[in-house]
Amino acid sequence: MESQVAIIGAGISGLLACKYTLSKGFHPIVFEAKSSIGGAWTKAVETTKLQTPKPAYQFSDFPWPSTVEEDFPNPHQVFDYIQSYANHFDLLRHIKFNTKVLSIEYEGPSEEEMQSWSMWGGIGDPFGSKGKWKVIVEDAQNFSTEVHLVDFVILCVGRFSDIPNIPEFPPNQGPEVFHGKVMHSMDYAAMDDKSAADFVKGKQITVVGFQKSALDIAMECSLANGTEHPCTVLYRKEHWNVPDYLPWGVPLTYLYLNRFSELLVHKPGEGFLLSLLATLLSPVRWAFSKFVESHIKNKLRLAKFGMVPKHSFHTEINSCLISTVPEKFYDKVEEGSINLKKSKSFGFCKEGVLVNGEAQPLKTDLVILATGFQGDKKLRDIFVSPTFKDYIAGSLDATVPLYRVIAGPVRGGIPPRTTPRTFAVQADLWA
Ligand SMILES: Cc1cc2nc3c(=O)[nH]c(=O)nc-3n(C[C@H](O)[C@H](O)[C@H](O)COP(=O)(O)OP(=O)(O)OC[C@H]3O[C@@H](n4cnc5c(N)ncnc54)[C@H](O)[C@@H]3O)c2cc1C
Ligand SMILES: NC(=O)c1ccc[n+]([C@@H]2O[C@H](COP(=O)([O-])OP(=O)(O)OC[C@H]3O[C@@H](n4cnc5c(N)ncnc54)[C@H](OP(=O)(O)O)[C@@H]3O)[C@@H](O)[C@H]2O)c1
Repeated sequence: MESQVAIIGAGISGLLACKYTLSKGFHPIVFEAKSSIGGAWTKAVETTKLQTPKPAYQFSDFPWPSTVEEDFPNPHQVFDYIQSYANHFDLLRHIKFNTKVLSIEYEGPSEEEMQSWSMWGGIGDPFGSKGKWKVIVEDAQNFSTEVHLVDFVILCVGRFSDIPNIPEFPPNQGPEVFHGKVMHSMDYAAMDDKSAADFVKGKQITVVGFQKSALDIAMECSLANGTEHPCTVLYRKEHWNVPDYLPWGVPLTYLYLNRFSELLVHKPGEGFLLSLLATLLSPVRWAFSKFVESHIKNKLRLAKFGMVPKHSFHTEINSCLISTVPEKFYDKVEEGSINLKKSKSFGFCKEGVLVNGEAQPLKTDLVILATGFQGDKKLRDIFVSPTFKDYIAGSLDATVPLYRVIAGPVRGGIPPRTTPRTFAVQADLWA
């Protein structure tokens, strides 16, 4: 009998997983909570563009159409591209839309037995016959539930959606005491472009965060309100956000994001030779980093705005959290329609935002928390078993934090003590 594979999520990762599962002769069933494919690309803020250069964000067996000439397409173009991929490989018929997976649980062997396994499925076979995954799904329209029994689960639930990361506040300094409005960037992004523009118009706005959502939203606010109502960006830490991918005219991919650059970093579980090589190459690593830093500092005039990060570009790019700076962002800072304010923490009072150490609150009508997402929680919560929940954890001291929530093959196999027959796919090139 054909092995049944449940794929959770129909974003880029889920579609890829579906295509490859089919090509291996398995029988996939894709559960998608929303009514459409595309995941993160179903809706984004108006100024969003693909920030990875197009050739590096491409299905290897399905190139971008020639009609998309831009190097950094907009979300509609990305969405259409994903849609054409799904149509081309006839994937839609395998997807159950409006179907949210509530939980997955491995039934068969006892929890104790599974904990003693050192190989996938206990025997090193992803499709052994020791048990089945029980997948409980909910119909988003009528809230009825169904149970599916499958042989293998591929988790493609995405990191950057659904569960917002909301900061914690001291007692009596949370949003409840504030007379203005507080929202997360994902709610702002969910508005249609016209409603979002109308919503921010004429408001005194504070945007919290200094990564891509924060930069884009601050830019939109400054375009709407100019210097009359400057938008404040409240950030904890400066970042090496990039103005382009051509430091001093050299493609960034020549320095990073290639096979050679992989040798420059220490990796979890590396052997003696790779470790020695990474150590010997540390001057090269340093030189590459300084080269890129000097370009960013020069192009964005970071010193002038007091925005030079204390960590290296090497550290930034290895965190997989590189953001591109919207064009003219620092021009807006210079003209005064964006104010940059550093604060380790913040809270609320009736009139606005309390920034560390300052007596007067920052007067604000609207606070937009561009504070990211809890992707690891989404992954963890889907497991019923507390043991499996514990396996989904990013290591804080990982040398290459790329592995943060990816439960996947390392060292040519599956990490010891991984869950039986599940696999989490993360599509980001850098997040
Ligand atoms: C605005 C934005 C711009 C980005 N730009 C870039 C970029 O330029 N370059 C880059 O490399 N990366 C970028 N990213 C990162 C992006 O997340 C990845 O590039 C990629 O789209 C992720 O695809 P995915 O399929 O892994 O996850 P997602 O696209 O998040 O898809 C996950 C899917 O799983 C579904 N799902 C989740 N939980 C369940 C459940 N329990 N049951 C059923 N369905 C479920 C969701 O509804 C969703 O459709 C961007 C992200 C965002 C939010
Ligand atoms: N292609 C595009 O145009 C585009 C647009 C939007 C988003 N994206 C992608 O979507 C993903 C999510 O991006 P994102 O910007 O939403 O989230 P993010 O990258 O996780 O950034 C979150 C920001 O919030 C800050 N933050 C987190 N907790 C905080 C707290 N308690 N107090 C104050 N600040 C806090 C972080 O500060 P620290 O830096 O100090 O940790 C960081 O600056 C990324 O992969 C991004 O590249 C892409």
